[in-house]
Amino acid sequence: MDLKYPHVHINFACSMDGKIAMPDGKPYKFSSFEDMVRVHKLRAEVDGILVGKNTIKNDDPKLTVNPKYYNSDRNPRAIILDSKLELDRNYRVFQYNREVIIFTTVSGIKNDSSNIKYVSSEGEPLTVNFILQKLGEMGIERILVEGGKTVISNFLKSNLWDVLTIYYSPILIGEDGINFYDEGLLKLEDIKVEKFSEGFLLTAVNIRKKELLDH
Ligand SMILES: NC(=O)c1ccc[n+]([C@@H]2O[C@H](COP(=O)([O-])OP(=O)(O)OC[C@H]3O[C@@H](n4cnc5c(N)ncnc54)[C@H](OP(=O)(O)O)[C@@H]3O)[C@@H](O)[C@H]2O)c1
Repeated sequence: MDLKYPHVHINFACSMDGKIAMPDGKPYKFSSFEDMVRVHKLRAEVDGILVGKNTIKNDDPKLTVNPKYYNSDRNPRAIILDSKLELDRNYRVFQYNREVIIFTTVSGIKNDSSNIKYVSSEGEPLTVNFILQKLGEMGIERILVEGGKTVISNFLKSNLWDVLTIYYSPILIGEDGINFYDEGLLKLEDIKVEKFSEGFLLTAVNIRKKELLDH
């Protein structure tokens, strides 16, 4: 049993028909003010906020705790999955004084004194298992996974997540919108649905993670 896996909370917002972005991949602001408060409070409670490379390219998120929504002294790390190191440093996520961890498959990258830290799988695929083990070894105890589709799908399928929350906004996008899940049968257990803000909030707890780690 590896006790170093961080606690993984997956959170995102979508339309009532389960789309996380518009047909062209452009973001839509699904979250109400109340939901933004919820999300920024979640951000303040974790050690790192994890997203995939395409989310940085498409949405250019800051991945910070914004005092407009929630006041906190905590400044979680940003964690980005970017196998081929395609992201330049102009994205907003790099503009803040906090650590940014980049997972890559590229070998031989040296960490210097800057606040960008590289973790390489040395040419092997970046699996969720590898990412979580490395984060655990770095002393990271809690992460928030925010997207996008490929990242959400792979984390769900890994079964190494703990809590999933989805804010369903009262919007319909239609079949060409971007789904939050790609493919493969997956059954959620232990779910709760509550009316929240303008839409509803689904919370699922992964009761199988402990079983998986025990074997
Ligand atoms: N509504 C919301 O809450 C929300 C939140 C976030 C994003 N989004 C939307 O999501 C869309 C982007 O989703 P996306 O699926 O295109 O991209 P993504 O999930 O943001 O990033 C996927 C990329 O990350 C890299 N990656 C490396 N290791 C990975 C791993 N183990 N698992 C998954 N990805 C890994 C891969 O690129 P490399 O092979 O180059 O490394 C992969 O193609 C955008 O339209 C955005 O607006 C919505």
